[in-house]
Amino acid sequence: MPTRFAAVAGCCLALALGASAQGHDEARAGIEATVLQLAQELSTVCPLADPADQTALEDCRRALFAGSLLRRSLGNILLWGRPHPNPGESLKNTTLTQFAPEAWTGLYAPLFMFDGTWSLDYDEGERIYRVRLGALFRNALDPGQYPYPFWHDAKKWNDYQSANSVILWIAPQSGNIVVGQFTNDGQRDPSPKSVPVARPAFDGQWMWTDATGASQPAPTLFRGLFSEENPYVRELEPAYRELANAMRTGHCNGCHVPNNPSRMSRLVLLQTPAHAAAEIKRIMRSVRDNEMPVDDSLLYHDIDPDTRAALLDYGGVFEDLIDAARAWEAEHARPR
Ligand code: HEC
Repeated sequence: MPTRFAAVAGCCLALALGASAQGHDEARAGIEATVLQLAQELSTVCPLADPADQTALEDCRRALFAGSLLRRSLGNILLWGRPHPNPGESLKNTTLTQFAPEAWTGLYAPLFMFDGTWSLDYDEGERIYRVRLGALFRNALDPGQYPYPFWHDAKKWNDYQSANSVILWIAPQSGNIVVGQFTNDGQRDPSPKSVPVARPAFDGQWMWTDATGASQPAPTLFRGLFSEENPYVRELEPAYRELANAMRTGHCNGCHVPNNPSRMSRLVLLQTPAHAAAEIKRIMRSVRDNEMPVDDSLLYHDIDPDTRAALLDYGGVFEDLIDAARAWEAEHARPR
């Protein structure tokens, strides 16, 4: 009897293993098909070009922002950044910035140019698929084309401009891209290479006015993202300024800015209209529910009622405007 049981158990275990391996293979085949399409899309709409080429950037940005496969493949949020400085450290322990799909596909992903090469593997430790896309960074654009001056940190700027790969992590269950990273894996010698570009010292301003009197960074004011005829776009900047004042009074900038002063492991950025717009539902919810601001030990600390009311008022105006701008865009956007 025991032997027969063992044989039966053995048979079924083998079957079960076979079935799960088959499920795994099917999941992988599905993900591989998507990755192939993604690599084709990226190298078609964002091909290798001169790293100063503004038109190439604009074409890529519009295509990725407006209904791309890349955008459709993201989950509710994407965590973005560099690999942990210690190779092999887990994603969980890696400091990353949290972006809504529109912020990442409008402001960050288009800064890369893709050569069409890709590889896919399954990371047993993370239990998640990893795609490596051959890519170079557009490092010679006007300063206002970056979502903020990456050169506020010299190492960050150099890591961006020496990147030769974009890594996308895809959750096996949902098939969504959940984490993105840029890195130089040292394995390839891509040509053409981006010649390192030196940037002036950072002056502490995440937004500024350029010599022509225009506010910068341009894409954070939706220039190049929403169409120029969108009637709500020009109202967004003044509405953001009011909200930004309230956020300043509420000490939100003490934490939610790119230099990550309080070393959040999941940084949320609010320092420009486009960054705040992508987070506005979460901003309103966290202020309404008294979750923000928090103190250094991450405990909620009260803000005075006036500041809270101002955050909710100006936040509400900004939220309505961005909703109207998005709706107008959805209705009027024509294929280019
Ligand atoms: C002392 C640092 C600090 C301050 C000040 C602060 N925050 Fe946060 N904020 C955090 C941390 C840390 C998180 C991540 C918390 C988490 O997800 O557990 C966070 C998360 C958020 C999120 C994302 C919530 C989500 O659902 O993902 C929003 C939006 C936010 N904060 C808005 C604000 C606003 C608005 C203010 C000012 C009124 C503010 N924060 C002030 C540290 C801070």
